Amino acid sequence: MISTQRGLIFLVDDDPHLSALVAELLRAEGWAVSCFERGEDCLAALQEANPSCVLLDLQMPGLGGEKTLERITLLYRHLPVIVLTMEREVERVVNILRRGAYDFLTKPVEPAKLFTSVANGVEKYALAVRVAQLEREHESKGFPGLIGTSPRMQALVRQIERVAATDVTVHIHGESGTGKELVARAIHENSGRRERPFVTLNCAALPEGLQESELFGHEKGAFTGAVARKLGRFEAVDGGTLFLDEVAELSPGAQAALLRVLQERTVQRVGGLQEVAVDFRLLTATHRDLAEAVRKGSFRDDLFFRIVVYELETPPLRERPGDPLTLAEHFVATHGPRLINKRPRFAADALASLDRYAWPGNVRELENAVQRALVACDGVEITLEDLPRRTTPPPPETPLESPASVPRPRLSAPRGPAPTPTPRAPAQTLEQNERLLIIAALERCRGNRSLAAQQLGIGRTTLYRKLREYGLEQP
Ligand SMILES: Nc1ncnc2c1ncn2[C@@H]1O[C@H](COP(=O)(O)OP(=O)(O)OP(=O)(O)O)[C@@H](O)[C@H]1O
Ligand SMILES: [Mg+2]
Repeated sequence: MISTQRGLIFLVDDDPHLSALVAELLRAEGWAVSCFERGEDCLAALQEANPSCVLLDLQMPGLGGEKTLERITLLYRHLPVIVLTMEREVERVVNILRRGAYDFLTKPVEPAKLFTSVANGVEKYALAVRVAQLEREHESKGFPGLIGTSPRMQALVRQIERVAATDVTVHIHGESGTGKELVARAIHENSGRRERPFVTLNCAALPEGLQESELFGHEKGAFTGAVARKLGRFEAVDGGTLFLDEVAELSPGAQAALLRVLQERTVQRVGGLQEVAVDFRLLTATHRDLAEAVRKGSFRDDLFFRIVVYELETPPLRERPGDPLTLAEHFVATHGPRLINKRPRFAADALASLDRYAWPGNVRELENAVQRALVACDGVEITLEDLPRRTTPPPPETPLESPASVPRPRLSAPRGPAPTPTPRAPAQTLEQNERLLIIAALERCRGNRSLAAQQLGIGRTTLYRKLREYGLEQP
């Protein structure tokens, strides 16, 4: 018996005997196999797992093989589907191959043909995924609109890329203003559902009593004020992506109903009896610790496991070195033309301050600060005084104790801001800006040059050279 697991295969056939036989053959070859009796079950499971190949019977009750194939090829462009069929259905098979099936096998399945077809399909899949990845890397680094070059941001982009190619249910966790909604949109835009609607619901913005009717809709007269039938978000999403923001705020009733929809893939409008089939990918987000909410009993554990299939973490801005400056430039470029019809530059001390501040409100706070500064500035340069006061705390007043061996730089550059800010000449050249950034970094690192060099993203010798060039060495 071969124990190595080569990958996961989904096997969809309403005949349990045939399924058991084929599964046994594949398992003996080292594949992991999950069996389903209906296409609907396979599609639901594809939201929780990422198989390398699907074996699909054509003749099945319910959704049926052809419709299932259609959904799979639409949502998972490269996933190979091998159709299982009776010999006499050859004409149908040709049609099926045209519709995107990778291969077909006639029943009774011949082991050798089965193994070859599966192995080839899986190999082609791996290649197709790799090529798509390379194409994307070639096209652009990361996603448009999702700015950040810090290692944590880059890691997040890679995760989004991976998860967008699947239909897996994703939970996004992160502090307020870190870009959770932006990440949800990026997943949708890069998924097979991108042509369908992206529908959001902020659970925290609704009184508990209205959550269920917003999610699932209601029939006319279901409650006082329900003057007409209304479709809920689950019906509006219509094959697209549903993003439930602040999901921890769902009422117990809405949690129970949501769990049911995730299991059954049908909804019942409030006050209605009819079950309506719904097709959606679910993304959720919260700034709260959902596991803690489960421990405290305010969030159902069975629902927790359904929605936290894959978790993404949007890192706080203070853990993303360099990103505040990149984002600030980005927001000047996007809001400047709109707000003041100009794209002013940042004065060096303003940049240093943006870089130094911890941004407890994360990207949203930074975006607001830049918008405010754009309106306050003279249109040419954003100075320290144009930034919100809280983001520009004055650097320590008293000279810092630095080791005797590390000479302190002469701080001939303006320091800011004193209670009454001293007017200063705007820094204009790249060199002036660089000089001020170095001074700010050394202040921040209390004279520790290795650390300052690290924060500036340059080598220590480069820093020494620049200190000499800019006359910042102790005489
Ligand atoms: N990496 C980023 N690049 C560009 N803009 C960003 C980035 N992250 C966040 N933003 C912007 O910051 C603002 C806040 O982002 P978003 O609404 O996605 O945050 P959130 O985590 O959902 O916040 P909250 O928990 O408060 O709802 C938005 O205007 C968004 O466009
Ligand atoms: Mg949000």
